[in-house]
Amino acid sequence: MNLTPKPGVMEIDAYVPGRSEAKGANRVYKLSSNESPFGPSPKAVAAYEAAEAALGVYPEGSAKILREAIAAHYGLAADRIVCGNGSDEVLSLLANCYVRPGEEVLFSAHAFSLYKIVTLANSGVPVEVPTRDLKLDIGDVIARVNEKTRLVYIANPNNPTASYVSASEMRRLHRALPPSALLVIDAAYAEYVQQNDYEAGIELVSTTNNVVMTRMFSKAYGLAGIRVGWGYCPKDVADALHRVRAPFNVNIAAHHAAAAALGDVAHTELAIRHNALWREWLIAEIRKAGLRVDDSVANFVLIHFPDRSGRSAADADRFLMARGIIMRACASYDLPQCLRLTVGSEEANRAAAAALRDFVETA
Ligand SMILES: Cc1ncc(COP(=O)(O)O)c(C=O)c1O
Repeated sequence: MNLTPKPGVMEIDAYVPGRSEAKGANRVYKLSSNESPFGPSPKAVAAYEAAEAALGVYPEGSAKILREAIAAHYGLAADRIVCGNGSDEVLSLLANCYVRPGEEVLFSAHAFSLYKIVTLANSGVPVEVPTRDLKLDIGDVIARVNEKTRLVYIANPNNPTASYVSASEMRRLHRALPPSALLVIDAAYAEYVQQNDYEAGIELVSTTNNVVMTRMFSKAYGLAGIRVGWGYCPKDVADALHRVRAPFNVNIAAHHAAAAALGDVAHTELAIRHNALWREWLIAEIRKAGLRVDDSVANFVLIHFPDRSGRSAADADRFLMARGIIMRACASYDLPQCLRLTVGSEEANRAAAAALRDFVETA
């Protein structure tokens, strides 16, 4: 028998990250990966630098310092938290632990592409739930639940559509799941959501046996480069994930930098306030320019372009790149007619809005 990967692996379309280079442009604005324009808190940077003294030793394997800092910050039980090398890793571990070949994993169309990758990597069957005008209808998810359903990934808010599922709808979905299925609420962008009917998922995890919430330090905390995220889990799920994760999956600098980042509430709040203000400004400017942009509760907006030569998203992308404005092309999200724009610094936002206006006027 020849050496072949497990069924599903070769069906995976490798993850396409946001680009970071715009060749030939004098000034580059990277607005393609939803990073914070403020970067990390100076307290996180100081903790990162102080970790230098410990670089020669293995970290404590379960990221205890960080789990305890997260537990104290959010009022959670530290033994139900599992940290990962980015929330990516926690989302993957869940599939590695629970999905058997042929079992089904539900997620929305136009959702974060990792869900499909980790499903196929475990020889599972991805079930994409179509959206209605890019919004996920929970009734459509429920209609696809059956005895083969093992995981349901819901990004809340969703990337790249920037829409969200209300707390009551999330509860309705949970009620419709059999106890053998796990609801995974990927609340990567939770810090940015200010809607009253939104919940990140802590309550649901605390009061049920089959819900996990994942969170990250990459966006609102400005620590994308250090790769650290976490999941809040039922106790036996946490136990399973700890068995499967690599022994020292989160590096020692990440333990300390992320714990310190939690302590700098003023820095995080500044990033959140800035985001709320400039997100609405961007939406208004882009609409004034005559383009469709959807409402957003996150730190990015989804812009639609007409499917016409010279005016398409691909044309806009080329035009913007020549000006050093890097947005996220959305073909890999099955939205080839869209570009996703991260809310950046004031300078970057103004440059992006001006370039979009020029594109519309000159195209
Ligand atoms: C919805 C969603 N979930 C999870 C992630 C994973 O991020 P990280 O691994 O940096 O925590 C991302 C990254 O962009 C995302 O958009």
